[in-house]
Amino acid sequence: MHKITLIPGDGIGPSIVDAAIKVIEAAGVQIEWDRQVAGMAAVEKHGNPLPDATIESIRQNRICFKGPLTTPVGGGYRSVNVTLRQAFNLYANVRPAISFEGTDTPFKNVNLVTVRENTEGLYAGIEHFIKVDEEKIAAESIAVVTRKGSERVIEFAFDYARRAQRKKVTLVHKANILKCTSGLFLEIGREVAKKYPEIEFEDRIVDAASMQMVMKPGIFDVIVTTNLFGDILSDLASGLVGGLGLTAGANIGVDAALFEAVHGSAPDIADKGIANPIAMIIAASMMLEHIGELKAARAVEQAVRDVIREGTHLTPDLKPGSTCGTADLAQAIVAKLG
Ligand code: NAI
Repeated sequence: MHKITLIPGDGIGPSIVDAAIKVIEAAGVQIEWDRQVAGMAAVEKHGNPLPDATIESIRQNRICFKGPLTTPVGGGYRSVNVTLRQAFNLYANVRPAISFEGTDTPFKNVNLVTVRENTEGLYAGIEHFIKVDEEKIAAESIAVVTRKGSERVIEFAFDYARRAQRKKVTLVHKANILKCTSGLFLEIGREVAKKYPEIEFEDRIVDAASMQMVMKPGIFDVIVTTNLFGDILSDLASGLVGGLGLTAGANIGVDAALFEAVHGSAPDIADKGIANPIAMIIAASMMLEHIGELKAARAVEQAVRDVIREGTHLTPDLKPGSTCGTADLAQAIVAKLG
């Protein structure tokens, strides 16, 4: 029996998390869920977006399955997602983008994994306004790239490539302009690559890499990059395989691992019963793999792929005009596992 911290999240979160739990149960994996709150739900209940009890639960269980959390834009509280990544040193964000048969996208045979540095770069949270005469005349944001932070995420990408029998790691950077931050990341990439002679290593500048991802996605296998570039490129990769509703991410760290869908809390469709649970179910499959339930992980992924290919039980985001809801789609996946 595994014990896992469960954060249902905000907006569509509770409904898609519920769907994913039914799929995990159908795959025959027994989990004791330690239910906690974060985000808006936690503000409403405890006046705090990240209560101590939630942090303590993740600290003890070391695995967290999390629905999307609403973050106020501009003011309000700091993103709980970013705080969790930093609190638990979740330094590697792993996002596979593998084509699904039956999706409406012109890009076929995409099979790549983005490994994004998750704690540093421009997301280190060092930002301020510069005031003169009480006016905000400028704003500054400081990117932090450390040797330790770069080494561990680049090594993670190579180890991942080795484990998953992938052949190439592409380091994406902007070292021609950002000579210190991106330059250091690239320099460390070249050093680390020497320890993995069986894996091909190349580097690409982020703008050219973005164009190539659209024009020739097949040239990419594992991509490793800094926080901001990884944020953007991993969403771009999601777009290649059918959108955010189909992609999940693992946040792997020293002290814990957290699994989630990559999309947000979708307040525009919350409570309508039509949210697509597939990304959350793929997050569940990644989590099952991480905790050693390999057979169940494969079965869940295959069931998802079969349901997408058949195309009869898809929510309106995947099949416009469809009347299939969150629970119907989940049930179709559960039926495949039966
Ligand atoms: P969003 O991903 O929630 O929604 C963007 C669009 O995609 C909306 O039209 C939404 O209806 C649709 N969509 C998203 N997920 C869907 C699903 N599973 N099924 C069907 N349609 C889906 O992004 P948005 O609107 O920018 O952000 C909403 C809130 O979510 C914000 O507070 C944001 O900060 C938060 N957010 C949280 C994330 C997390 O917890 N990991 C990630 C991204 C955003």
